[in-house]
Amino acid sequence: MASLLLLPAAAARSWASSGRIGRRSALSSVYFDNNHRSSSRHHHHHPSSSSSYFVHRGSSPRSIAHPRPTPASGDVGRPYSSSSSSSSSSYTSFEAPEPPSSHGASVFPDIEFRRSATTTTTTTTGEEKEAQQQQQQQRAVATTTTAATTRNADRDAVFVVNGSSRGIGLRFVVGLLERTEGKVLACCRSPSTAIELIDLSSRYPDRVVVLPLDVEDQESIDDLARTIATEYRRVDLLLNVAGILGDGGATTPGPERSLSKLDRDWLMKTMSVNAVGPTMLARALSPLMRTKGGRRTVEMMDGLRVDLPLLPPGRHRPPTVIVNLSARVGSISDNLSGGWYSYRMSKSALNQATRTMGHELARQGTWIVALHPGTTDTGLSRPFRRNVGEGRLFPVEFTVDRLLDVIESLDERNTGGFYDWAGKALPF
Ligand SMILES: NC(=O)c1ccc[n+]([C@@H]2O[C@H](COP(=O)([O-])OP(=O)(O)OC[C@H]3O[C@@H](n4cnc5c(N)ncnc54)[C@H](OP(=O)(O)O)[C@@H]3O)[C@@H](O)[C@H]2O)c1
Repeated sequence: MASLLLLPAAAARSWASSGRIGRRSALSSVYFDNNHRSSSRHHHHHPSSSSSYFVHRGSSPRSIAHPRPTPASGDVGRPYSSSSSSSSSSYTSFEAPEPPSSHGASVFPDIEFRRSATTTTTTTTGEEKEAQQQQQQQRAVATTTTAATTRNADRDAVFVVNGSSRGIGLRFVVGLLERTEGKVLACCRSPSTAIELIDLSSRYPDRVVVLPLDVEDQESIDDLARTIATEYRRVDLLLNVAGILGDGGATTPGPERSLSKLDRDWLMKTMSVNAVGPTMLARALSPLMRTKGGRRTVEMMDGLRVDLPLLPPGRHRPPTVIVNLSARVGSISDNLSGGWYSYRMSKSALNQATRTMGHELARQGTWIVALHPGTTDTGLSRPFRRNVGEGRLFPVEFTVDRLLDVIESLDERNTGGFYDWAGKALPF
């Protein structure tokens, strides 16, 4: 035991194998929100206020009934969505607290949600009317921008999800199946063991394709880019979801409570998965995302030249979008509690890459944002769950629904920005 303590490098290497260190971190999940859990000091949360958000829990991957959702009557905001337009009985009343206010100011505007209610039917009693009003509120959906509506309705559109084997990424695949008509390229490290993805691709063979991708491995990124360039010649939305946090000492050195716990290999790995990988993937796929400038032939990283698909006369490809899943703890000005060095550093780096790419990619008609999903019920948050306040752990369906709302409401002013799940601009 003593030798383990004296050999941090050896210990560091063993995080790849099964549980070793033993002492579970007492790190509280308040870190997920930069210690804002105690922010009732700064911010009052009104669970029943009109600004609460609702979750639709009716569609697990198993519950998708139609590969191509049909328009629903009365669903003003999202004509191609089956998730928001399915019967109101599939809505539950999960209410997220309002996002905390941040320390520091963002230089970006908030994303405006024009949440619209669905139409009503005749009611008789006051009680029924009240119930109906409640349903209406629950079914309120964000209106999409024209760009998002066009993208969602396009059967040739290509949506790439990096990190889709589980958690938020897996749910994104389902959300995209529900809201869009295009192809979903579900990328993961081990396609042969990704049971849920295999299931989805066998039920929706025309829409879901599972592809291998390890963002730590440049060859894997290059191979994926080449496959997409050859088979599809375009990417309309890239969701960089893959990320690691660690369990705080049980089997991984991170996330670290203090400087003394910092481990070089873990820091490098976290930077590689959370910052370098998504940035290199954006670099590799961005030529296929060009929508502006008139150039039709683009050059991939390895010199491969690709002719972007021709559109029928009069049709324009709307701006393409890159989304980097970040975290509020990546905000430097909002860091009120310290700790979690590797994770914070990696997400700050990802935010910087997002802002920098935002300037450049706007010129080719691609928008990019970093998004904080909120503390969500996935494997990543599991080790820190016991300290999450009641009602503060988002069901993954809720998170993805809100993030897709944010994505569908973006416009050019938002590109390069850092936003939370409610569309609120976060400071860097
Ligand atoms: N959950 C939260 O509360 C929360 C809060 C703030 C931010 N986020 C961010 O949201 C994103 C998604 O998190 P999550 O909660 O869905 O996490 P999760 O359930 O732990 O899933 C992580 C995903 O990343 C993939 N991945 C890990 N290393 C990879 C690599 N080298 N190459 C390719 N894929 C890799 C995993 O694939 P395997 O199955 O192959 O391991 C898995 O699909 C992350 O970027 C995270 O930082 C989450």
